[in-house]
Amino acid sequence: MKLAVLVSGNGTNLQSIIDAIKEGYISGVSISYVVSSSPEAYALKRAEQNGIRSMTVEKKRMVEFLSPIFEEVDLIVLAGFLWIIPEVLLGIKPIINVHPSLLPLFGGKGMYGTKVSKAVLNSGMRISGSTVHLVTNDIDGGPIIMQRCLEVRDDDTPESLLDRTHPLEHQILVEVIKQMSEKKYKIEGKRVIFP
Ligand code: GAR
Repeated sequence: MKLAVLVSGNGTNLQSIIDAIKEGYISGVSISYVVSSSPEAYALKRAEQNGIRSMTVEKKRMVEFLSPIFEEVDLIVLAGFLWIIPEVLLGIKPIINVHPSLLPLFGGKGMYGTKVSKAVLNSGMRISGSTVHLVTNDIDGGPIIMQRCLEVRDDDTPESLLDRTHPLEHQILVEVIKQMSEKKYKIEGKRVIFP
């Protein structure tokens, strides 16, 4: 299964996929492209260090730039990619996104990074977590594939809560890619099932 991984920043989720492939935890999976929204993203360094083809895309050229890539690969992974995927690119191949909250809570346009963890703390919720879901034109609202949760601590700050969420998203992202490479999935309402 060939992946295109879309990034915008540090690339720790990208790294977790690279490591899982290297360690043989997921087999038959390779990363064909890393595409970044920013030339400064550290994720590009990670791609380079691992011999993965990488490039930066301009916002206004997303459709022409990404469509041949989407045609070529089997699965597109949004690993911290901060731009909305234009609607004409949806439906070419499955696209998954990782989000640092228990969706459908605390998602939507502009919700990323500490904006999400701050909203979780402000809500008073005692649990949070991370979600991997299929991307549709409903921002952060596509069918949910996997979630993992953690307890919010009394002394959590937006930064500490987000930091503690990261390892969970790395785990479930790798787990979902493994499942998708091994089995066909079925969408039942808002759920994704691996029969
Ligand atoms: C991750 O926390 C991911 O959940 C978030 O961006 C971060 C990227 O980190 N994505 C969103 O908030 C999408 N709405 P990384 O560059 O270290 O993988």
